[in-house]
This record gives sequence, C-alpha cells and structure tokens, in this order.
Amino acid sequence: MASGAVKTAILPVGGLGSRFLPATKAMPKEMLTVVDKPLVQYAIDEARAAGIENFIFVTGRGKTAIEDHFDHSFELEHTLAERGKNHYVEMMRSMMPEPGQIAYVRQQDPLGLGHAIWCARHMLKDEAFAVLLPDIIIDPVDGGDGCLKQLVDAHDQYGGMVLAVEEVPPERVSSYGIIDPGEVRGSHLEIRAMVEKPRIEDAPSNLCITGRYVLCTEIFDFLDKGVRGAGNEIQLTDAIAANLQKLPIHGVRFSGRRFDCGSKEGFVAANLHFALKHPEIGDKVLKSATEIMARQ
Ligand code: G1P
Repeated sequence: MASGAVKTAILPVGGLGSRFLPATKAMPKEMLTVVDKPLVQYAIDEARAAGIENFIFVTGRGKTAIEDHFDHSFELEHTLAERGKNHYVEMMRSMMPEPGQIAYVRQQDPLGLGHAIWCARHMLKDEAFAVLLPDIIIDPVDGGDGCLKQLVDAHDQYGGMVLAVEEVPPERVSSYGIIDPGEVRGSHLEIRAMVEKPRIEDAPSNLCITGRYVLCTEIFDFLDKGVRGAGNEIQLTDAIAANLQKLPIHGVRFSGRRFDCGSKEGFVAANLHFALKHPEIGDKVLKSATEIMARQ
C-alpha cells in the first residue's frame, strides 16, 4: 500500500465539452476562462500549493491549446518585453511548471474517467498520486489550505486513498459518485461503500465525490479488467470501491467553495465569484451586477 508524499497528479482533460458548444468546437473546455485564467490553470495552481511536482495530462484530439498554454510563447513574450510590459512576461513564466514536470498521454477512446486514469498507469511510480478534475474549481476559504492540500494532509495521517466529499441536494445525487459514510472524525470520515451515479432511492447518502482524489496504484488491478459500470463507462468510483476491504479509504469534507464548471450555471457562478473578489475589477462588477439585478 502506498503512503507518504504525494508528488504526482493526473488531470484528465480528454472530454468533449459538448455542454459548452459552440464555445468548445475549436477550443478545449479546460481552456474556458474564469475571469482571466483558464479552468485548467486553477487546478494546476491548487496542485502546486499541495506540493505536487509532476503533472500528467490525459488528453485527446483537439487539446493542443493546453500544451501550448504551459509552454513559452516566444513571440508574445518578446513583443510584451519590447513594449515594457515585463510584469505580464513574469506572470506567464511564474505559472509554468519547470521543464520535464508535465507529461501528456492520450486517451484514444472516451471510455470513462476510470479508463482515462488507467491510460496514465505506465507513467506512475508505485506511490500515491492525486487526481484533479479541472471542471471543478475549489476556492479555498481566505488564507486556508486548498482542497487537495487538505486531502494530502489526511493521506499523511491515514495512508491509503482519500477523496474530497461534499453534500449535494438529493435531486443531484444521480449526477455524482456517492459515498456511504462510516465513522466521522471532524471533517474526516471513513468510507464504507461508494456507488457511481445512483438513483435517488438507491443512494447511500447525499455526500458526493467532488473531483479531487489521492489514490493508490491498487486501483489498476480493477481498471486492468476494463469492467464497465454506470453509463456503460469504466468508472473510477468502481476501481476505488474494489479496494474498500484492502486499504483505508477516507473522505474529507473540505473547506472551500466549489464550483462545478462542467455546467453552465456553475461556470457563470464561478466567473461571478472570482470577478467580485478580483482586486482590479471587483467593485465595477458589483456595480454592474447590482444594476442588472435591479432591472430583472
Ligand atoms: C465524475 C466521477 C464522479 C464524481 C464527479 C465529480 O463524474 O465519476 O464520481 O462525483 O466526476 O464531478 P462525471 O462528472 O465525469 O460524470
């Protein structure tokens, strides 16, 4: 069983983004911007704050903009420097992981989240690793740790696997992986069972898995078999659940504000949230939002 420092993260970015068409016709959904940063950048920033040093993107066709985003843009940097806009150059350089810290692997067929993670299996050492779904942005409470850092700390405490969990309204449980909580210790809880996208009447609770994980390579024993689950996809939830009797598996009710940017309403809410707290534009956005509301 793997425990100890978590240094590698997998980011599945192969999805089609059909819910955001036509915006995502020629652009990966992970590059949609929330105020001034693409979604994927929020995930990378959260991972780096948790001590992650190696990033594996599981990509697909039409996703090269993500690779370009994490590379130099020589023309742009040169032009900005010539115009004396060095602060932009500095900002773009600071967000880039070091050479060799990012690797890309393709998921050739869209067979599910479990399959996406399985595509990265040969790029991992036999140690715990993180998974971040970039559709989900989690803004830490002011001055607090990011969500993944909270998971990594719990992993240091218990070993095994750790998942971020959060309550959802009952009518939403069929959209998520849902856990059955056991013993609760503060914000940490044991997980007794988990099921992917249950019908409301079959859901063991309303605690959903929210797109941040610390996992162990034991999940690949299950994923190797290619078993299909909910929606006829190879499910990550099922691969984790297959280890419930073998490894400690905990949930963390994280502190932080989560936005599900896989949905239009979540994406717009994230933009409003980050715009209102943005030091340059917050006041102006509040004024505009107030005026718009008054006209409704
Ligand atoms: C995936 C996982 C699910 C999890 C969700 C979080 O589902 O399979 O367990 O609750 O992410 O967003 P998806 O949204 O890819 O259908």
